[in-house]
Amino acid sequence: MNTSSPASRKSHRKPSEEVERRARELREEIETHNYYYYVLDAPRIPDAEYDRLMRELQELERRYPELITPDSPTQRVGAAPVEAFGTVRHELPMLSLDNAFSEEEVRDFHRRVTEQLGVRHVDYAAEPKLDGLAVSLRYEEGRLVQGATRGDGYTGEDVTQNVRTIAAIPLRLRGRGHPRVLEVRGEVYMPLSGFRELNRRQSRRGEKTFANPRNAAAGSLRQLDPRITAQRPLSFFCHGVGVVAGGRLPGRHSEILAQLREWGLRIPEHLRVVRDAEGCLAYYEEMGRLRPRLDYEIDGVVYKVDRLSQQEQLGYVSRAPRWAIAHKFPAQEELTRVLAIDVQVGRTGALTPVARLEPVYVGGVTVTSATLHNEDEVRRKDVRVGDTVIVRRAGDVIPEVVAVVGERRPPGTCPFRMPRKCPVCGSDVVRAPGEAIARCSGGLFCPAQRKEAIKHFASRRAMDIEGLGDKLVEQLVDKGLVRDVADLYMLTEDQLADLERMGRKSAANLVAALEKSKSTTLARFLYALGIREVGEATARALASHFGNLEALMEADEAELEAVPDVGPVVAAHIRAFFRQRHNRQVIQRLRRLGVHWTEQQRSPGVPLPLAGKIYVLTGALQAMTRDEAKDRLEALGARVSNSVSRRTDCVVVGADPGSKYRKALELNIPTLDEQGFLELLHRFEGRNRA
Ligand code: IVH
Repeated sequence: MNTSSPASRKSHRKPSEEVERRARELREEIETHNYYYYVLDAPRIPDAEYDRLMRELQELERRYPELITPDSPTQRVGAAPVEAFGTVRHELPMLSLDNAFSEEEVRDFHRRVTEQLGVRHVDYAAEPKLDGLAVSLRYEEGRLVQGATRGDGYTGEDVTQNVRTIAAIPLRLRGRGHPRVLEVRGEVYMPLSGFRELNRRQSRRGEKTFANPRNAAAGSLRQLDPRITAQRPLSFFCHGVGVVAGGRLPGRHSEILAQLREWGLRIPEHLRVVRDAEGCLAYYEEMGRLRPRLDYEIDGVVYKVDRLSQQEQLGYVSRAPRWAIAHKFPAQEELTRVLAIDVQVGRTGALTPVARLEPVYVGGVTVTSATLHNEDEVRRKDVRVGDTVIVRRAGDVIPEVVAVVGERRPPGTCPFRMPRKCPVCGSDVVRAPGEAIARCSGGLFCPAQRKEAIKHFASRRAMDIEGLGDKLVEQLVDKGLVRDVADLYMLTEDQLADLERMGRKSAANLVAALEKSKSTTLARFLYALGIREVGEATARALASHFGNLEALMEADEAELEAVPDVGPVVAAHIRAFFRQRHNRQVIQRLRRLGVHWTEQQRSPGVPLPLAGKIYVLTGALQAMTRDEAKDRLEALGARVSNSVSRRTDCVVVGADPGSKYRKALELNIPTLDEQGFLELLHRFEGRNRA
């Protein structure tokens, strides 16, 4: 930004001509960027630059309040609240649309149109039907002077101060040639991304969340305090005009929208002129496919006879035009009854309440159950067995219960409670402090979690059982050969050789790998147990703090929290895990079957020999793999980093070292060759073991 701009000068009583010019310039520039951003959907500058322009203008207006114009882009923050909205009479009523729910009804519509017009072919403007709130925006001499809701079609509410806060609505029309009075009609809506973010924000603050984007848009627009509206992610599309005076518009609906776009208004995306019923139906199909990818909700498409002269010829029936029809998609929300609330246990032990529903056709399929996400969600929505609920299924998304219809609750229902025991294995259900998800704590035992637990146990950085891949684990569990991780060590070559894609040789290899894995470290073993929140680093910290498994299994929360990096949540998970009799039994069996490690006989609190040191490994070592080298360094307290910097304490250099070696020389960092490294391990590991 130009630092010698007028905004950074000292304040004057009256703005100079230069300052006035700069304010004008800024306003135009900001409006132009709004246009690129909202209407053309093609921003030309980064957000940060836009913010700078805005701040410069705000600063000018702060120093010289007389510079503020009602249509300045700074004036969107929201005016003072009102007691009630005024009413606005619509000079031309805001009509609604007839609906078509089938191909047949669209063909009937087209037939009526052609018959009445006495023509064979008709051009239709086809548009998405946005699920928002109809509003009318009145521009006089190109300035936005009034915004009103549709209301009953004849009178609506005056929401001028609220619509002014919506960035996609221009406060002044661009270009020239606009009619003296131009009433633009369209939809205020909330983009899905904004809706999700708003609901997250609302629930974080303990405020009410919205059932769908339409409700959120309505609730946000009809705020008596426009400052609240200003904070809501509302947007706008126009789909027609009302009163036009003192000027002329083109003779086709599609051309009118194109003209409105030039004047700075946003028009629907995917707008198209199509021919006859066939064109309409093809458009419907296409929008149906696009629908799941749009960032706003549409509940159908609208076909409008494109030529205004033909529209006039067709006229109106009661409250809807004969020249337009809405072709609706199957509803995405329906009402049904909750028959039961079940609790499912996922692969990772997460408990999810699921509503069993009276079958209902919604979003194009019959739905019999819907997720309730978690305990807090059920409580917030207060869903109970027997309730009538709104079920929603959008696109391929899992059906969900949106809300309860309070008035239809039968007597004698009771609030939902999460079970205290896992419905699959009977272990305690734990919900760690601050977490939304309740989990089964029988990780080593619970059938729902078996496969994941075993895969993790066998993985390279856990027990490192070579050759025991995911596919094999699935087979072993599905065939009933393995129910928990201890069963792995009872597998025989014969059993394994019978499995798919296994031969004698690989069976023998696997048995050998299992045997080899029995000799491990306490840290790896702890990590392998798959205790929630206990990753490798925590496992290492626990191993070196407690030195042996028994001490850790006995530790209470306070003792656990004395370990670096272990907070109340991790401590709660560890406690819950070892409290389960089943988990303890599996551990006991593992040890009886020969899983062992060298106990680290260390008194807690004595630092490890390489504590605080940063090591880097480069090149290949003969005596061990990179992983093993890393493990052994870490067991001595070192941190192993991937890159060399001035903070690196030592670089271990194997054969064919890479650029890390060069960097170490450059920065004068001490290096160790393999021999030196082995000596270092030898010296310290001896000291560190019993
Ligand atoms: S044209 C006389 N076009 O749907 C025709 N309406 O069910 C006036 N709507 O009140 C409406 N998208 O709020 C039109 N592309 C679109 C629309 C649309 C959504 C709403 C509008 C109207 C309602 C009628």
